[in-house]
Amino acid sequence: MFRMAWFVNYGFGQYDWNKRWSGNVAKDVARPELFMQGAQMLENGGFDYLMLEDASVLPDVFEGSYDHALRRGTIRQDPMPLVPLLARATKHIGVIATLTTTFYPPYMAARLMNTLDHLCEGRFGANLVTASPHAAAQNFGYEEHFDHDLRYKMADEWVDAVRSLWDSWDRDALVFDEEHDTFADPTKVHYADFAGEWYKTRGPLNAVPSPQYHPVFCQAGGSPAGREFAARNADTVIAGQPGIEGMREYKQQITERAEANGRAGESIRLLHLITPILADTVEEAKAKRRAQEQAMREDVTNQLAGLSYISGIDFSKFDLNAPLPDMEEQVNGHRSSYAIVSAIAKTGKPLREVLASRRGQETVELVGTPETVADRMQEAMDEVGGDGYMIVMPFTRKNLAEIADGLAPALRRRKLIRDGYPYKTLRENLMSF
Ligand SMILES: Cc1cc2nc3c(=O)[nH]c(=O)nc-3n(C[C@H](O)[C@H](O)[C@H](O)COP(=O)(O)O)c2cc1C
Repeated sequence: MFRMAWFVNYGFGQYDWNKRWSGNVAKDVARPELFMQGAQMLENGGFDYLMLEDASVLPDVFEGSYDHALRRGTIRQDPMPLVPLLARATKHIGVIATLTTTFYPPYMAARLMNTLDHLCEGRFGANLVTASPHAAAQNFGYEEHFDHDLRYKMADEWVDAVRSLWDSWDRDALVFDEEHDTFADPTKVHYADFAGEWYKTRGPLNAVPSPQYHPVFCQAGGSPAGREFAARNADTVIAGQPGIEGMREYKQQITERAEANGRAGESIRLLHLITPILADTVEEAKAKRRAQEQAMREDVTNQLAGLSYISGIDFSKFDLNAPLPDMEEQVNGHRSSYAIVSAIAKTGKPLREVLASRRGQETVELVGTPETVADRMQEAMDEVGGDGYMIVMPFTRKNLAEIADGLAPALRRRKLIRDGYPYKTLRENLMSF
């Protein structure tokens, strides 16, 4: 058996504006309904959780302007207030939202996560990121963003500070003792008195312990520093490493690093990103894939804008017919994502061909009917020895239906995914097998 999750990859944004099958974007934008319906569909499908991406910047690196971002609708509402609405619309599925360690003071984050875990009745998780663009840092008053590896060091300390605040209440501190007129036992609540290199917080928290006590942490940064952070702190990790060998190596490394940090290797649920392409016949699915790749290749502007976002370098200034300079060292943003592009660029191909040979963020190629894809997913998971998959596709009702109503039943018939949720909390269900 393995676990399934969905990466809602533009967070509380919009999906497929002005494309076929996107529904009525004008009606959906900044409204919770699409996400509530999607969460219900995924719960029906037996998914463990959905994960809302986030960023706090309107991208303006490409062409030095936010023109492209606004035309294409690269907006994001704050995902946090959406979380309890999704939990209210469902009964079992976990709701994970992205939170930036760099910009949330630990006290604010600890109390926010605690409260969300209450409102979700123990189904909340946070995807911890350090954020990448300089512009995001500038929105929070910094001149520029902290250096890539330093951000992860700071994030380690941030996690310790947050945990010290959660731990400032013993689990049994809330006594509701009417006889002694005592709501909470003062001997079971302590100052955190956390003093690190970057963060200080006094505590205790003025909020009662949440159902999971420590809400679930998710992490998805693939650089060595990112993997180390994940191995130390995360309960569930997302990997986008292509190919069976890459997937296996990632799993092994996370396990080894977890053990080096004094954790049981099997305490981390590592999910691999996939983008299944489904149709009624294998031929149809292959044609669909060709059409999708063609559309992506033709939309050169969008690809250049995407690369500008992950690298922080304006890709509009490069000649499409010339090779790219080696810029890996300059990238302070999504280093592991850029490394994949850089590897292709180093072959000396002109930029246009580099773009043409890029693929989605998938780990295994899954193109076929729900049945053939389910079989391939089983084979790959057996080979990797992994814990599950995370779907990354635009969050449209059509995509949700294909996966939740097409692929998930095929997986369930093979007894590959859960048929129910034995526990109340996300953590318990995630760790239950
Ligand atoms: C599946 C997935 C989801 C991610 N979600 C976010 C996100 O919501 N916000 C964000 O700023 N970065 C996100 N990232 C980026 C990473 O968390 C990380 O910050 C980035 O990859 C840079 O770290 P790295 O250099 O260690 O890869 C995501 C990455 C992956 C693979």
